[in-house]
Amino acid sequence: MTERPYVLLSCAASIDGYIDDATGQRLVLSNEADLDRIDEVRAGCDAILVGAGTVRRDDPRLLVRSDARRADRVARGLPASPARVTLTGCGDLDPEARFFTVGDTDRFIYCATSAVEKTRERLGDRATVVDAGEPVDLTRALGDLAARGVRRLMVEGGASVHAQFLTAGLADELHLVVAPFFVGDSRAPRFGGDGCFPWHAGRRARVAEVRQIGDVALVRYALSDRCAG
Ligand SMILES: NC(=O)c1ccc[n+]([C@@H]2O[C@H](COP(=O)([O-])OP(=O)(O)OC[C@H]3O[C@@H](n4cnc5c(N)ncnc54)[C@H](OP(=O)(O)O)[C@@H]3O)[C@@H](O)[C@H]2O)c1
Repeated sequence: MTERPYVLLSCAASIDGYIDDATGQRLVLSNEADLDRIDEVRAGCDAILVGAGTVRRDDPRLLVRSDARRADRVARGLPASPARVTLTGCGDLDPEARFFTVGDTDRFIYCATSAVEKTRERLGDRATVVDAGEPVDLTRALGDLAARGVRRLMVEGGASVHAQFLTAGLADELHLVVAPFFVGDSRAPRFGGDGCFPWHAGRRARVAEVRQIGDVALVRYALSDRCAG
């Protein structure tokens, strides 16, 4: 059986643990220097995964921004940006979202069996819609990605997706950036949430690195023995 990809979770949160606010606007948590670090991490991955909620709410591009990093990937025989991946149970994805329209990379939708047909109809040739079970089985999705050559997967959120990878013990590394302000609004999404996490007071995660990047702090946690450093 193909080993699952190395899974790196990336998240930015406020001091009080919120990953967004409750307004309709996108909340900026990182700074420019940290966005450049994230760009470097992206460039080192084969695929980037976000939940369908993030595709709907943030409409992210998920591209490598730096020309030099894009050129370096192309010189190594890779697409300029990693493949894009999302998960959906209901298939409610807008084919005009930037996930589907920007950049020339592979796109994979891991979809609950019951929504596969209508999702394929909706998205046409804009993405490969993969039947991932009912409900979607993350281990099965990771196995499929590995079989497609994805060795390193970056998971960029949102709240529900991060929580699932963490509680399922399917994460090797977590990059948590803490922005220097509070959100203070329990209507906003929060990192982690309720759940049974493999790391708790009796089993503490290992800190692989702490780094100040301008006004934010990055903590890199090793969540498996596959994580070096
Ligand atoms: N600060 C950060 O680093 C960061 C990064 C990314 C996102 N965010 C924020 O996170 C928020 C979105 O988080 P969220 O929790 O609402 O959404 P999310 O985690 O992005 O996506 C949740 C959706 O993904 C699909 N999904 C997830 N797991 C699935 C599974 N096992 N099986 C089938 N479908 C699955 C479902 O889609 P369907 O509803 O289509 O079935 C579900 O509604 C936004 O506010 C965004 O701005 C913050």
